[in-house]
Amino acid sequence: MPKVVLVTGASSGLGQAIAEYLAKQDYIVYGTSRHPKSDEINGVKFKALDVTKSDTITSCIEDVINKEKRIDILINNAGVGITGAMEEIPLDEAKAHFDTNFFGPLRVINTILPFMRNQNNGLIINITSIAAHMGLPFRGMYSASKSALAKVTEAYRMEIKEFHIKMVNLAPGDFATNIAQGRFHSPLKEDSPYYSNYKKSLDLMDEDVDQGENPIKLAKKVHQIIQKSNPKVSYKSGAFLQSFSVTLKHLLPQKLFENILLKHYKL
Ligand SMILES: NC(=O)c1ccc[n+]([C@@H]2O[C@H](COP(=O)([O-])OP(=O)(O)OC[C@H]3O[C@@H](n4cnc5c(N)ncnc54)[C@H](OP(=O)(O)O)[C@@H]3O)[C@@H](O)[C@H]2O)c1
Repeated sequence: MPKVVLVTGASSGLGQAIAEYLAKQDYIVYGTSRHPKSDEINGVKFKALDVTKSDTITSCIEDVINKEKRIDILINNAGVGITGAMEEIPLDEAKAHFDTNFFGPLRVINTILPFMRNQNNGLIINITSIAAHMGLPFRGMYSASKSALAKVTEAYRMEIKEFHIKMVNLAPGDFATNIAQGRFHSPLKEDSPYYSNYKKSLDLMDEDVDQGENPIKLAKKVHQIIQKSNPKVSYKSGAFLQSFSVTLKHLLPQKLFENILLKHYKL
């Protein structure tokens, strides 16, 4: 029997690639968007869901369960970016960011878990980021939201093990998607003490995403993880140097690693 997969944020970028790739591999795939353009696109059935609105999460998951009787796999992918100097990001924007990137996936997980417990199985893949492994300059809030998600995944795993539900982190490096257009940019102000460094970093970030990997690579990684009977706690996918930076972070003395980042960002 084909497995039923729910992918949040499937209208664009990584979520779209994952959903469409899995639909081609014979999974029954439901994708979500805050405003779906159609009931079905490229083999993916669409439902409305906003990760900041609990009622939309409940009705999406109940709809899928009523139709399919189960959800085997959740890909918690919906998320947004945020940039700016830590001192200058308005606190309201930081809270809104965490509401989407951290509390959003938590809402989806906590709504789906009773159904997965009932089935006595399930797999949840949380899409974090290489940025979750290190506090990056002018992306500190994003690093923090993804790092928070990665940490709670570790805790959830041990709590839900007895119900035969598995959870993993998948940390992408830079992939070519629309994330830069959708993210909150702290305004670049010429009278800001951070102006020149923030501008340089912003240009570099946009370049990194534009020249990023093809999202299909991440979709294939998701497919590999799904097929594992005993998945690891966390996975990475991206350009070699970005993935390797996580290993370096653990191996190198802290200040040496920091100097490498400073050099990369020309700070
Ligand atoms: N691209 C990268 O280089 C990269 C690297 C590391 C991690 N990531 C992570 O990968 C995930 C996907 O990002 P992407 O690069 O594919 O970006 P994207 O192209 O901008 O896609 C973001 C998706 O999230 C959905 N979304 C945004 N806010 C939402 C909300 N409040 N509720 C529900 N859905 C929401 C959007 O759907 P609608 O607008 O249709 O609702 C869209 O489908 C994110 O979690 C991101 O942080 C991306």
